[in-house]
Amino acid sequence: MTVNAKFTLDLNQGKRILECRPGMTLFAALRSQKTFLPTGCGARGLCGQCRVKLLAGEANPPTDLEHERLNASDLAAGYRLGCQLRPGGDLRLEVPAAVFAAREYPTTVEDIIPLTPEIRRFRFRLAPGDTIPHQAGQFLNLNVPSHSGVRGVTIRCFSFTTPSTTLDHLDIVVRLNPKGTATPYLFNLLKIGDPISIIAPFGEFYLRDQPVPAVWIAGGSGLSPFLGMLDDLVAGVLPNRPVTLFFGAAKPVDLYYVKELQDLARKHPWFKFIPALSGPEHDPAEVDHGLITEVVERQLSDLSQHEAYLCGGPGMLKACIDILVNKGVAREKIFFDRFG
Ligand SMILES: Cc1cc2nc3c(=O)[nH]c(=O)nc-3n(C[C@H](O)[C@H](O)[C@H](O)COP(=O)(O)OP(=O)(O)OC[C@H]3O[C@@H](n4cnc5c(N)ncnc54)[C@H](O)[C@@H]3O)c2cc1C
Ligand code: FES
Repeated sequence: MTVNAKFTLDLNQGKRILECRPGMTLFAALRSQKTFLPTGCGARGLCGQCRVKLLAGEANPPTDLEHERLNASDLAAGYRLGCQLRPGGDLRLEVPAAVFAAREYPTTVEDIIPLTPEIRRFRFRLAPGDTIPHQAGQFLNLNVPSHSGVRGVTIRCFSFTTPSTTLDHLDIVVRLNPKGTATPYLFNLLKIGDPISIIAPFGEFYLRDQPVPAVWIAGGSGLSPFLGMLDDLVAGVLPNRPVTLFFGAAKPVDLYYVKELQDLARKHPWFKFIPALSGPEHDPAEVDHGLITEVVERQLSDLSQHEAYLCGGPGMLKACIDILVNKGVAREKIFFDRFG
């Protein structure tokens, strides 16, 4: 092999043939050729979303992070994480079909709306004539540029707040993590009129076209994907079905869009909205009290005919899934995006 040698990457039986320089990860090699594996962690080996199947060829052995994210039978079957796999020769790979649909879009920040002291809605306008086909609930990767001490692009996921019918702009709802990398940039440095690039669409978190009742559970900025799903149901993009949306927060000041969602529930009998506060402060306006798990436990009984959709932090998700399973929801009918 000469110093300038490149390996060939054959994706999905010749659907796309790309190259890789020795030493690069598969994730980086594909990305440099505008082919985007999904990532929930910014290629840090933490989310498992960049999973691919190695069909043939030489590569580094699975890393410790891969042993943590993939079980023994997956590893034996050839599954690897694209952000950990470093090709050592020509490879044949199988990647999810969605990889071929995701694209990079240049956008401009059009609006930034504070919703709570820690949560803001951002609107990104696509270039004229550009459109972004997606399903409500899916997510995008935001490319946060180098900034104050952070070198290189930081990739983070944010769920679409906009419905599937909105094609010329997209909104996201973001919670500030003051110790994080991307969200302090979004809150403190990004301004209206700034350019920012996104890659989309990704993810399996979208409403299945099933006329069965659904339980939706959102924590904090996890309300975001449900807003787009709801818009799609109201507009008749998908046939409506009984939906109960639980929205959990700690303090009254952490709640947002409550009045709008309560108004929607009054207008549409198929939609029930249950906001809940876990902290000691009480809000009189039709808000339930307790941890979201307690509220779900109290308000719902038999869920054996239901689908469930959840979005929020890992702790809330795990506790809620246990309750849903106990109440009869089949595991394969529980869909979620874990924000962290
Ligand atoms: C599918 C998906 C959809 C999502 N959608 C949304 C959404 O719609 N809205 C939303 O607000 N969020 C969403 N998230 C979460 C989002 O992608 C980010 O993880 C989140 O905003 C925090 O990003 P950050 O860069 O500010 O923090 P990060 O830099 O990722 O830091 C997160 C935490 O990790 C700690 N940390 C970071 N680096 C280190 C280190 N080296 N060692 C030790 N600790 C460290 C920090 O202290 C911090 O508390 C989604 C996540 C996923 C996977
Ligand atoms: S991108 Fe998250 S594990 Fe690879």
